[in-house]
Amino acid sequence: MKTLVTINGKSIELRFDPDETLLHTLRNHGYTEVKSGCEEGECGACLILLNGKAVNSCLIFTATLKNDNILTAAGIGTLHEPHIIQQAFVDCGAVQCGFCTPGMVIAGYALLQDNP
Ligand code: FES
Repeated sequence: MKTLVTINGKSIELRFDPDETLLHTLRNHGYTEVKSGCEEGECGACLILLNGKAVNSCLIFTATLKNDNILTAAGIGTLHEPHIIQQAFVDCGAVQCGFCTPGMVIAGYALLQDNP
């Protein structure tokens, strides 16, 4: 199957199996900043913004997407121009092992989008 979406501002055609979750589709297309943790909606490591709303990508079937807008942690800042939330994680040494950090950055970003 295939669908067209926008990921981090770029139009992308995703190819996927009918029963595939968005988590695995994103990772299969190179968006490895979206981490695979529990795969049952508990840990938040796979958090992304889908049409501006924070969702666990492990709970979304890719087949339900069409012309949707996806933002991952890699889409809100770069290594040389990090988003203020990413910079705050660095400044505070908040990365710990780093595995869940992209999900926590997205959670913080979503919080500030809703509560500026
Ligand atoms: Fe844990 Fe998605 S992988 S919530």
